[in-house]
Amino acid sequence: MIVLGIESSCDETAAAIVCDAASPDARILSNIVLSQEDEHRPYGGIVPEIAARSHLEHVDHLIKQALQDAGVKLAQLDGIAATGGPGLIGGVIVGVMSAKAIASVQNKPFIAVNHLEGHALTARLTENVEFPYLLLLVSGGHCQLLIVEEVDRYIRLGTTIDDALGEAFDKSAKMLGLGYPGGPIVERAAATGDGARFELPRPMLGRKECHFSFSGLKTAIRQQIERFGGEEKMSDQDVADLCASFQSAVGDVLIDRCQNALRQFRERYPNGNTLVVAGGVAANQTLAKRLADLEISENTRLIVPPAQLCTDNAAMIAWAGIERLKAGHSDLLDFKPRPRWPLDPDAPTAIGAGVKA
Ligand code: KG4
Ligand code: ZN
Repeated sequence: MIVLGIESSCDETAAAIVCDAASPDARILSNIVLSQEDEHRPYGGIVPEIAARSHLEHVDHLIKQALQDAGVKLAQLDGIAATGGPGLIGGVIVGVMSAKAIASVQNKPFIAVNHLEGHALTARLTENVEFPYLLLLVSGGHCQLLIVEEVDRYIRLGTTIDDALGEAFDKSAKMLGLGYPGGPIVERAAATGDGARFELPRPMLGRKECHFSFSGLKTAIRQQIERFGGEEKMSDQDVADLCASFQSAVGDVLIDRCQNALRQFRERYPNGNTLVVAGGVAANQTLAKRLADLEISENTRLIVPPAQLCTDNAAMIAWAGIERLKAGHSDLLDFKPRPRWPLDPDAPTAIGAGVKA
């Protein structure tokens, strides 16, 4: 089975060709990601209108390039998958329309993929991980703990009551004048910093459920910066220490939340032992190393896909398309792009679970 994947829900335009070869190494036939970072950088964050226009400008030639790199013709495809949401709606429309057009002309199945399912199934693309597993999904827009039972079946154990983790990285970097996107820059700055220098809060630590909150940590960063009289008064070492202290607080929170989630996962699946980390923040090597402690303390197996498949890409969308096709799912051409699309629509909200912001 060979599927074309298209991703355009945020600030990356991406196209990939993926097949279902038995060996993970042989599956990705091409994988092109065009980042719009330079276009959004002057604004310190993503501007939806700029994103949508840029997707429109680039999507066609990226698809052609992906086919060419893979040496695959449109007629050889078994399906065309595009991110159908959640995300910035202008961009999602661009990808979905392109996929529908190709599917219609070629008379092939169209698959609308939930972007989060793309992240969730990446570990099966790269490592053949078997269902069920626990997923820590940490990206710019999401921060969730989910049980992945099978394709299309998720149980959300926890979510964030305010910011997503990637957002907390991005906003902290912005306050420190470090630029955009903040995650990789904060990680780099933290590498030479002392994580014990600044005392920062560990929001939600010790609570019984699996929810997250990062706004208090963000406020604490702002207060530390104000103590210096502004980021421009901080030395490179001060910035490095604050970044390292931030990452250290985040690491403590992630470990604590994952411990709770593992407990809940094992109540349903007593032999469940795999923890997968996905989404852009999973590219953070320092946090991945911290989470690896759970392998011993919780007797679990930690899987972190390669960094370039953790951040947004179309290979994960094509792969989710393959998994969905095999499970008998495809979509009609009247599918409407969805700005919001929870993986577990029945999950209680964090506030509903009695958590105070
Ligand atoms: O999954 P992704 O590419 O897009 C969304 O679906 O949101 O995630 C992007 C997020 C951004 O907030 C970015 O700062 C964060 O992932 N990120 C990182 C790292 N690389 C990307 N956060 C922490 N450390 C990193 N190395
Ligand atoms: Zn993403």
